[in-house]
Amino acid sequence: MTTSTKNSFVEVCSTEDLWEGEMECFDVGQHEVLVLNVNGEFQAFDSICPHQSVSLAEGGFEGKTLTCRAHQWSFDACTGKSINPAGQTLRRFPIRIADGKVWVAEHAEEI
Ligand code: FES
Repeated sequence: MTTSTKNSFVEVCSTEDLWEGEMECFDVGQHEVLVLNVNGEFQAFDSICPHQSVSLAEGGFEGKTLTCRAHQWSFDACTGKSINPAGQTLRRFPIRIADGKVWVAEHAEEI
């Protein structure tokens, strides 16, 4: 994390730092945000599993599926919606790509 701008987006990394299929956590404002490169599209979600608050960064990320290591809850890495069990949604953080850098908003989208 380096710079904050007026519109509250924070630069977290270069687009080249996170290859397709990779994910990494960053501190953004008051949150730990998990940034994923899903087939070339960057996504950012709250990094904490809604089940029992384990870090999703410790889990698996295959294709478009993010899986928590603790009890294998799985989430769609494009939408943040849970696959199994259904009915949960990870908080999504707006993301911007500019000048080869990934920027994440300090505040999550409203669900
Ligand atoms: S803490 Fe993530 S599935 Fe239980």
